[in-house]
Amino acid sequence: MSIQHNVSLKKFNTFGIDATAKNFISITNISELLVALQLEEFPEYFVLGGGSNMLLTKDIETPILHINTKGKRIVIQTEEEVLVEIQAGENWHEFVLWCIENDFGGVENLSLIPGNVGTSPIQNIGAYGVELKDTFVSCSVIDIETLEQKIFQLEDCKFGYRNSIFKNEAKGKYIITSVVFRLTRKNHKLNTSYGAIQQELESNHITNPTIKNVSDAVIAIRERKLPNPKEIGNSGSFFKNPVISKADFDMLQENHKNVPHYVVSDTEIKVPAGWLIEQCGFKGKRFGDAGVHKNQALVLVNHDNATGAEILALAKKIQATVLEKFNIAIEAEVNVI
Ligand code: EPU
Repeated sequence: MSIQHNVSLKKFNTFGIDATAKNFISITNISELLVALQLEEFPEYFVLGGGSNMLLTKDIETPILHINTKGKRIVIQTEEEVLVEIQAGENWHEFVLWCIENDFGGVENLSLIPGNVGTSPIQNIGAYGVELKDTFVSCSVIDIETLEQKIFQLEDCKFGYRNSIFKNEAKGKYIITSVVFRLTRKNHKLNTSYGAIQQELESNHITNPTIKNVSDAVIAIRERKLPNPKEIGNSGSFFKNPVISKADFDMLQENHKNVPHYVVSDTEIKVPAGWLIEQCGFKGKRFGDAGVHKNQALVLVNHDNATGAEILALAKKIQATVLEKFNIAIEAEVNVI
């Protein structure tokens, strides 16, 4: 374990923001993590995984622990299903591809989501009708205060839409070191209900899809709609989709007959923030190097050398405009640091 000083974080965050870390510690195993957590000169830490859900608006003085642990193992398997344990530093999409190769079903709809396995439970990553919680069994964590290992089972994690205990009462208290998933080995329960997946499969004349077909469809849809962070800096959806009351939705629909929406309950409706932002005229707009993606208005992009502050200023301008035009408050999904 070594401590590096004044490290550029540009390649450690998918937004590609060039903030500097005063102290940067790369962690490749649990012993290193335990040693690092006991260094007396550092009373607190900033834990960094894949850097795919953060906007850095300043240099980071707090020492960074970059969780870079690798490993995938089959814990147990039957003819029907398999439990796998994946180390926190594994790349999420590479994990999905490994599942597809081994014909382990359950995470194919979550193909191409940026980030690491260890941070996936924090916001209960989700796409195309599937969320992490659907295959999640448990995660191992280290308690930053006591250095004890603890297991969080599914019900302990309090998963919700882009939400979990790790964003609330457990925030900053634990470091997730590995995650266990339950995947199918046969009779895969495919989720192709999402319109875009159906269309993609149909246009490829696939009537009896495999998990690989579904993964390929998701990859194709995402590549068309969402910018690749390796080419253009971004953090996926910058905002959450707001949930509004049925009464407010009815008023919105009076003026906008075709507003897309998902019914959450009898009294609540979720409206795509991307649609609201597009209606406000921001889609594809660029302000210096900060911009709104041309194919998906929910995604803010760093065209080249935007600072975190510039992206944040654009996010605030979008929030204010949506609030003024629709009287709907949209909240950042990305952690602003
Ligand atoms: N829409 C627009 N304009 C836009 C973007 C979207 O009108 O610029 C409309 C679309 O036409 C569609 C609706 O909004 O009718 C929903 O769009 P989409 O299917 O792209 O999904 P989303 O609700 O915008 C969410 C997730 C994505 C995930 C997709 C697919 C959130 C915050 N985002 O986006 O997640 O990939 O559904 O399941 O829930 C991410 O978290 O980084 C992410 C990309």
